[in-house]
Amino acid sequence: MASPAFLADFSPTPLTRLFEEDGERASRFAHDLAGIHIDLSKTHLTDSLVEKLDAAPYREALDRLFAGEVVNPTEGRAAEHLAERGTGSPDAVALAAQRHIRMRGLVDAIEAGAFGDVTGILHIGIGGSALGPALLVDALGRTENRFRVEILSNIDGQAVDDALRRLDPATTLVAIASKTFTTAETLRNADAALAWLAEAGVEDPYGRLIALTAAPEKAVEFGIDETRILPFAPSVGGRYSLWSSIGFPAALALGVEAFGQMLEGAAAVDAHVAEAEPGRNVPLLAAMSDILYSRHFGAETRAVFAYDERLRLLPSYLQQLVMESNGKSVATDGAPVDGQTSAILWGGTGTDAQHAVFQLLHQGTHLVPVEFVAVAEGTDEQDPAHHRELLLNAFAQGAALMTGRHADDPHRAYPGNRPSITILLEDLDPASLGALLAFYEHRTFAEAVLLGINPFDQFGVELGKEMARAIDDPEARAAFDPSTRALIERAGL
Ligand code: F6P
Repeated sequence: MASPAFLADFSPTPLTRLFEEDGERASRFAHDLAGIHIDLSKTHLTDSLVEKLDAAPYREALDRLFAGEVVNPTEGRAAEHLAERGTGSPDAVALAAQRHIRMRGLVDAIEAGAFGDVTGILHIGIGGSALGPALLVDALGRTENRFRVEILSNIDGQAVDDALRRLDPATTLVAIASKTFTTAETLRNADAALAWLAEAGVEDPYGRLIALTAAPEKAVEFGIDETRILPFAPSVGGRYSLWSSIGFPAALALGVEAFGQMLEGAAAVDAHVAEAEPGRNVPLLAAMSDILYSRHFGAETRAVFAYDERLRLLPSYLQQLVMESNGKSVATDGAPVDGQTSAILWGGTGTDAQHAVFQLLHQGTHLVPVEFVAVAEGTDEQDPAHHRELLLNAFAQGAALMTGRHADDPHRAYPGNRPSITILLEDLDPASLGALLAFYEHRTFAEAVLLGINPFDQFGVELGKEMARAIDDPEARAAFDPSTRALIERAGL
């Protein structure tokens, strides 16, 4: 399997030996980044591996990203999500700032009563237009939430019913979030929301709609007044868009100040990658670890466990960020990639997962690099004893995976030498969550650069979308395979 040059001649040392040989390892391979402690010491990364990295291509790619140059050549675009948090070319930053002012204006108007009594927001979007806002509101909105926010993504009518049941049509605003404003699920659900408002006797259902989009003209065509359209730049990718007006429900529910703090936390990570030496650049080091496990050890997956209920949506957010970005099999120039690209990211919450899937992590035949994401401070409302046990469990699991345990009975033996990364936030607040998500974005970008792939396109989802349209057309349907035709017939469609 071909690998980036830094892995040439690499021969791993068992994790416990790495610690025996280097009394400083625990501190040297742990980093503090914008309120987050990131401990990479229980990975097989070594100084010599890090020294072997030729960081020049990464540095060049990062400079192009920051300068707003085309870094997504297959779509001929820049990737300007960083500008949303004040990083990048002055023009893009100024434009993003103007759009944020517009978003703040709408939040202020809602708070001032321009839409009457508002108690809830129905946010309709899918993929990157839903996962980010859902995570932000779920993570930070438990104590601060000033509005009931329901996120509706799936086209399943059950999802529609579930979301609507929890809202009052008389006092709900509907935010339609779609970068392209063409996504079938989102438009279908928007129609359902309009019907719900009309049936409840809301006088002007269209007057309750807000659009969050990079295609404002399409939102106008849909019937949304220009004053209620919050645009963002087409160069902001869907899975990188929570910093833009796509984050509107979070700005409304948590407050624009909190939203601003989240952007600042992310900007601190941008500043870190801009300035840090390669050997101190934490997202770059984490990406090297990811490649080490996929390319050298052949690990096909990577598991993220949130040891904090407030971060329970983190794994699904990261699945899109990582897998839609780096799940590619051709290089940027179109040549086939020789070797694995993105790991399959999966995960859950601790401690639940310990009693469900950790068996495989400790004794299974797959090597799965694990990531523990925890928060040092619990909330004021919580019983500290619970939080203490939660954290101790996270740390114990990392130790057990690494050290293992010998037993004469093979059923009771633990091989150990299984790697993990521990990410410990001091506190969970808007700034630290922004920093955490920016850390993952930069790590994904660094991995893509080291692998020579484009993380910013997602053509892989297009064929399925096209066929989902064709399958509803009787003529086109005839060209489908016999198995699919039989299924359609059986379901009576
Ligand atoms: O189908 C994938 C995708 O294009 C994602 O990249 C995107 O986040 C999601 O669909 C939603 O797209 P849109 O915001 O245009 O509705």
